[in-house]
Parts: sequence; C-alpha cells; structure tokens
Amino acid sequence: MTRIIHRSLRGTLPVAVAAEGLLVTDSEGKRYIDASGGAAVSCLGHGHPDVLAAMHAQIDRLAYAHTSFFTTRAAEELADTLIAHAPPGIGHVYLVSGGSEAMEAALKLARQYFVEIGEPEREVFIGRKQSYHGNTLGALAVGGNEWRRKQFAPLLIDVARVSACYEYRGRRDDETAEQYSERLARELEAKIQEVGPKRVIAFCAETVVGATAGAIPPTPGYFRRIREICDRHGILMIADEVMCGMGRTGTLHAIEQEGIAPDLMAIAKGLGGGYQPIGAMLASTKIVAALQRGSGLFQHGHTYIGHAVASAAALAVQRVIERDGLLEQVKSRGRHLARGLCGALGGHPHVGDIRGRGLFMGVELVEDRATKKPFEPRLKLHARIRAEAMARGLMVYPMGVIATEADLDTIVERLAAAIDSATHVVTTEEETK
Ligand SMILES: Cc1ncc(COP(=O)(O)O)c(C=O)c1O
Repeated sequence: MTRIIHRSLRGTLPVAVAAEGLLVTDSEGKRYIDASGGAAVSCLGHGHPDVLAAMHAQIDRLAYAHTSFFTTRAAEELADTLIAHAPPGIGHVYLVSGGSEAMEAALKLARQYFVEIGEPEREVFIGRKQSYHGNTLGALAVGGNEWRRKQFAPLLIDVARVSACYEYRGRRDDETAEQYSERLARELEAKIQEVGPKRVIAFCAETVVGATAGAIPPTPGYFRRIREICDRHGILMIADEVMCGMGRTGTLHAIEQEGIAPDLMAIAKGLGGGYQPIGAMLASTKIVAALQRGSGLFQHGHTYIGHAVASAAALAVQRVIERDGLLEQVKSRGRHLARGLCGALGGHPHVGDIRGRGLFMGVELVEDRATKKPFEPRLKLHARIRAEAMARGLMVYPMGVIATEADLDTIVERLAAAIDSATHVVTTEEETK
C-alpha cells in the first residue's frame, strides 16, 4: 500500500523507473511516448546529457547556499540569460521553485509596487474565466477554474473577472476575429470602470491558455488592446507563461508574437525542463526601480529561491535551446503536427476544434460538432482518453517535447486511436442506457 497522497486516492499508478529522450519506461518494462512532456514540462525530453553534466558539475561544487547570505554564479548567469532574451522593459528575475510560486510572487510584487509609489488604494486583480494560474491560495484566487476553486472559495481573495479569449466558443458568427478581440477589450474596460480604475492592481492572463481549456491562442490584436487599456489606467499586466512559455509556441515567450511586453511574467515548466523544480517571475525595471527607491526590499521569500542546482539545470536547458536552434524546430515541427492532427482528426465526428501554436496543440472534443455541445463531465471522457492513450503507450496533455516528425506521426496515430475508442465507448454506453 502506498503512503503517498497521490493525485487520485483511488487506483494505482505505474512506477516510472527510467526515461530517455521521448520515452518513459515503467517497472514492467512498458515504454510510453511522453508526447506531453508530462504536464508540458520536459521540453528537451529526458536524460539530456548536457543538462545532466551541468547538474553534476554544480552539485560537486555547491548544491545550496541560502539567499539571505549568498548569491551564486549559477543563479546570476541564469538571470542574465533570461533578461538577455526577455521582452522589452523586463530587467529583473526572481527565481522560485515552480509556476504557482512564480504567480504568487508576481501578485505580491504588483501590490507592493503600488504601495511603494503611493497608490495603496489599488487592491483588486482582474483575471479571466476558464484560466489557471496555480494551486496556492493567491494563484487559485486569480484563476477562473470553477471546479478547482469551489471548495476553497471562502479562503480566496475577491478577484474581478472577464471572459476568456476563446474564439471557438466565444466569437459570434457575425464577427471577425478582430471584432471579437475588440468586444473583449471593451468588456475589460467596462469591468475596470465597474471596479474603479484607481482600485485595480493588474490584469492577469495566460498568453496562450493551457490546462483549463487546452492550447487556446489569443485572437489578433487582443493583447495590444489589453495593453493599451492597462496603460491608460496605470494598471499592470501580468502574463502567465508557465505552460505556454519558454519555447513551446515557437518563440521563447508566447507574448513576443503579440507585439507587446507585460510588466510581470511567470515562467516555469520548460524553464528547467523537469530536471529540477524551478520557476521564475520576470519583472520590469520600472517596478523594481520603485522598490529600490522605496523600501529597498521585496517583502517575500522562500527557503529555496535561487537554488543553485535548479539554476544550473535551467541554464543548461536554455543554452541547449539556443545552441540547437530548437525554437525554429518547434515552428516547423509544429506545422507538421498541426497537419497530422488535422489530417487524422479533422473529420472526426467528436473533434470540434484543433488549435494551438508551435508544439503546444490542443484538440477539443464535443458530443455534437454542429452545436459544439460538450460531452457530459460525468462521463469523464478525458480520463478515458488518457487511459486509452496510456494503454497504447502514449502520454497526452498539451503537446510539449521536441519530437522528430516520425515521433509526431506516431503520436497522432495513437492519439487518434485513443480518441476514437474512448468516444465510441461513451457514445455507445449512452445510447444503450
Ligand atoms: C498557466 C499556469 N500557471 C501556473 C501553473 C502552476 O504551476 P505549478 O504547477 O508549477 O505550481 C500552471 C500549471 O500547470 C499553469 O499551467
């Protein structure tokens, strides 16, 4: 019997014993294609020799030094690398251990910034529906996933909320994508007026939506309009790129493709590629300068911030991405994957939408394509597809790892078979009821 509080307290999990490249092997010797990089994490695949070597070298020199007393070369070099490739205006890095911590740090720094510049009346965040920013209380509060929030709602700060940018379900037939972006921008403006423009701290959004709705890119012009509105009211913009960032969409940061820069950004997952738990908050020079002039400290901190081995691992991952030109490969293989998915699933009666950017692709399943009616949640179709895919030796979630074109073809083939089988089983079960 396991003593671990696993994600599900029922059922058992295979035991992973080894992993190399795209493949994870369990204790029975069965091999799985890690098509999702776990939860969009293992961007270089498993066992990359350069990352392992960098980690070994760091451990041999220094595994950990507390950040109250020391900085380390690994953390400094990682921060320099991240800033060298960051969106314009971003000048500082706060290294944490994962995505939720990165979002918590962004929320707290945003609030502290306004306290320091003499606008303490700013106390409300605006988030979006169907979003996910992490499971700690602050990040959970800003997120808009009703199921994850429900039982903890009494513990969460009040957050104002606007619609997600979700073209497949949100855009009306009589609107262009640009008009839809404009309608959403006006909704944000109206929400700001309702809350009171001087009371809003920041608007938080995933640049490309991940876990809650499945690889949804923004519509054209959406983020430019959001940026304009935030600037007009002196409101900060927080981009959550924990899942979509660090190369997954074909550019290091997904927001680069939108032609704007946020004030604060959360990154994690692909930052360390799963070799170490690491995340980071990236902050604009404007914000950090205000604290430097003011109190002189960011009132935050965790024991493992700036961890030396985690920093060395992330630095190695980022160097491989650059040295091997992986962003270009994400773009070209992303096109291959999109073609494969559209070819194999485009005509499937239960596939409503195939979307995404680069190797961050999602397939939305519907009971009825014409009405876009989703499957009943009680049927737990997602769990069945995961089980069908695992049975075929395929791990799926949003796409993540650097796979060859042949790997991608196998992934599409196994995913199509898993979707076919699971949707067939649930529709037959419902018909025979
Ligand atoms: C967009 C986004 N933000 C935040 C998080 C939380 O990150 P973590 O699970 O590393 O705490 C996730 C995790 O999936 C995420 O997808």
